[in-house]
Amino acid sequence: MAGVVQVEWDDSLSVGVPFIDEQHKRLIEIINKLDTACKKGQAREVVGQLIHGLGEYAIYHFSAEQDQMRLTEYPETAAHVAQHQEFIQKLMEIDAKFKASNVLLSSEILLFLRNWYLNHIRLVDKKLGAYLLARHRESRLAGPEDPPEPESAD
Ligand SMILES: [Fe+2]
Ligand SMILES: [Fe+2]
Repeated sequence: MAGVVQVEWDDSLSVGVPFIDEQHKRLIEIINKLDTACKKGQAREVVGQLIHGLGEYAIYHFSAEQDQMRLTEYPETAAHVAQHQEFIQKLMEIDAKFKASNVLLSSEILLFLRNWYLNHIRLVDKKLGAYLLARHRESRLAGPEDPPEPESAD
């Protein structure tokens, strides 16, 4: 049933940098849609498009974060980027399995996606957010610019 994996955004997930928060909301929205589509047994085509959309948006979002890391010489870049790469790798495996089977995503996989994301935001992205805010205050430079949004995944 829907509800196990659905995530409601709240301020405890904020990393303090508005454009990163907005992108995280979008990612969580896609994961929620994927959960609903699988639980409702929607067409494989719909689920396949959502998996693809999640991958595209994750790549876009990760590179936006990584641009900020490079620009500010973030000391924990390597470990953070490694987590991003691991997620993309895992998502590619999920996609390959999905394409090779005739079932939708299991609750286990949906939970993995949700938990990976929530843990990454809480433990890894929040550290980056705090660092960017501190750098921003120090340098008094303009904040990270909002990069253009890709096409809506709706
Ligand atoms: Fe990240
Ligand atoms: Fe992130």
